[in-house]
Amino acid sequence: MSTPPLTPSNAVPHAVLPALPVETDVNLKPYNTFGLPAVAKRLVRIREAADVRRVVDHPELGRAPKFVLGGGSNLVLTKDVDAVVLKVEIPGIRLLEERDDAWIVEAGAGVVWHDLVTWTLDHGYPGLENMALIPGTCGAAPVQNVGAYGIEVKDRLEAVEVMDLITGRPALLPADVCRFGYRDSVFKHSDFGGLAGKSVITHVRFRLPKPWQPVLGYLEIERKMAETGISAPTPRQIYDWIVAVRRAKLPDPAVIGNAGSFFKNPVVTAEQCKDIIGRDPGIVHYPMPDGSVKLAAGWMIDACGWKGKTVGGAAVYEKQALVLVNKADARGAEVVTLARAIQESVYGRFGIRLEPEPVVV
Ligand code: EPU
Repeated sequence: MSTPPLTPSNAVPHAVLPALPVETDVNLKPYNTFGLPAVAKRLVRIREAADVRRVVDHPELGRAPKFVLGGGSNLVLTKDVDAVVLKVEIPGIRLLEERDDAWIVEAGAGVVWHDLVTWTLDHGYPGLENMALIPGTCGAAPVQNVGAYGIEVKDRLEAVEVMDLITGRPALLPADVCRFGYRDSVFKHSDFGGLAGKSVITHVRFRLPKPWQPVLGYLEIERKMAETGISAPTPRQIYDWIVAVRRAKLPDPAVIGNAGSFFKNPVVTAEQCKDIIGRDPGIVHYPMPDGSVKLAAGWMIDACGWKGKTVGGAAVYEKQALVLVNKADARGAEVVTLARAIQESVYGRFGIRLEPEPVVV
């Protein structure tokens, strides 16, 4: 049998890319750091930006609702996921540009955040050390503007590369259009022009300023400086300190499931704070530059006696009351019940409604 000639009508058009592997009934337990049980009806692994285009062009998946999953470190799964799960696994870290005032480093959205922090230090591009050991992936970091010990991702972000889930086209979003706030961004919302469910972050570009300057001033860093007698720490020393501090008080998701801080630290007016201090003089609070005051939610939860309390398999972490953990095969509903009980109790005592940090599905 002779091969038919390649004519325009039977030639493989360049738009027909290799078949997109669609996995069905995928157990999501290993893919969320809380270790909560849930099943994805359909899951596609995004290993390069072009995979998003393949999803958009797919006859069935193209128009179906999508759920973008990064490292699953900011997620509470309470049920199976009907939307098509796009599991972002784009690898790669590189120095994109060296300027007089900064190093620009680009990371694939699937790169583990802590691996990026370590890589930048190993290659001599400091600036992310205060954010060492935050769980999750680089693609998830801008979604909730992760931060720790005086630095947030927005302070080190140059731009975010996304693929549009309607058009399949790429776009480069400079930091100033990402509407970053405290644990918040344009990627976390679907209303008011938000991009949740409408685009997939494929790469993130970081701007690491030159000359490097340490960000000190946090109580725990100052304590390390006093203990060691080091008054001018190197980036590596700060990294080592942060790793030690986090290991001492935050649970390792690989050992005990959790999603980091479960609630945001509430911000109140100076008058509200004065009122609370009148009743609870010990409350930990931080005056903000705009005159408002941030309250330590962990302190309030602790003060209400929640440390170590459980609902089913979900528990309040013994060493840090702001962290809820999966103590024994917890279900998402148990985590949510525990969280609601904490909210009510804190509201009853302080008149403050705590807002959860993770996305509840
Ligand atoms: N505190 C208590 N009891 C507790 C927990 C905290 O009294 O059970 C007190 C602490 O002693 C401290 C204060 O509350 O005086 C604040 O606690 P901590 O320094 O541990 O920080 P946090 O406000 O609880 C925030 C971030 C963390 C970040 C740390 C360090 C939020 C929601 N959390 O926690 O981020 O690592 O500061 O910068 O802003 C995360 O977002 O997942 C996260 C871990």
